[in-house]
Amino acid sequence: MAVRKAVIPAAGLGTRVLPATKAVPKELLPLADTPTIQYIVEEAAASGIEQITFVTSRTKRALEDHFDAAPELRAALEAKGADARLAAIDRAETLASYSFVRQRRPLGLGHAVLCAQANVGDETFGVLLGDDLVDNDADPCLKQLIRVHERYGGCVLAVMRVPHNDVSRYGVVSLGEQVEPGVHRVTDLVEKPAVDEAPSDLIVIGRYVLTPNIFAALEQTPPGAGGEIQLTDALRALIHAGTRVFACEFRGRRYDTGDPVGLLTTSIAFALKRPDLAPGVIAYLKTLRLD
Ligand code: UTP
Repeated sequence: MAVRKAVIPAAGLGTRVLPATKAVPKELLPLADTPTIQYIVEEAAASGIEQITFVTSRTKRALEDHFDAAPELRAALEAKGADARLAAIDRAETLASYSFVRQRRPLGLGHAVLCAQANVGDETFGVLLGDDLVDNDADPCLKQLIRVHERYGGCVLAVMRVPHNDVSRYGVVSLGEQVEPGVHRVTDLVEKPAVDEAPSDLIVIGRYVLTPNIFAALEQTPPGAGGEIQLTDALRALIHAGTRVFACEFRGRRYDTGDPVGLLTTSIAFALKRPDLAPGVIAYLKTLRLD
């Protein structure tokens, strides 16, 4: 069955970007004029996803508004003949069908995914985390993972190589057999290992294809690191129970927008891709004396 549903967990507290995220959802912080979450939804839609469930929380109501109709704004833009802006606001509304579920307490990423169970049902689904942007318009990251699932079944994790000394900040995979170039079976996962204990230099980023048995595993998963219910722990349980899990070294450049430097540098990188914005940004950058 085609993968047509995705879950976007967006109920985290966003503490690394405080005070911006005290009242504004982290996912709505913009890269130039476009909220990060919109890039994520664009990637999902371009990967064939038709139904998106956002997992939100009390302070994230504005996310619903961003993907809803905005009749007053439409009327004002129509009256002004501002067609490009009109198209930009219509786009968010029409990329997919949306539903929103609440995670009442921030009990962890695994728990957030579990909150979407009723919407996903018994289907394989995608998960996209808003902090990770992968730039590859020609072949979106989630689509690459879905192709791996279509070929081999099971769950698929997007992984990328990092310098060995950086591994302890991430979830790291232990690799089994290679099933094709860039795609391996995963034999284990380790969350934030010490540098000398890391089983590889391949870290898990925020794109997954998950089979629906992940929900039963999450229900059985006790709080782990940081007292949170970790998706990694449920995936390990699936691996040990025999579910096939694959690591896919995706093609594309990954940007981490979860902290202030990442947000700012990604904003510059994405503005430089835009013909309408790039000249102004380049002109400013050229004025900087950085040495
Ligand atoms: P992070 O821990 O990286 O993000 O969670 P955060 O909590 O938003 O940010 P910091 O670390 O405090 O700055 C990874 C993803 O999981 C979601 C987050 O929204 C983010 O997309 N998440 C995390 C939830 O939806 N619920 C949770 O309880 C925890």
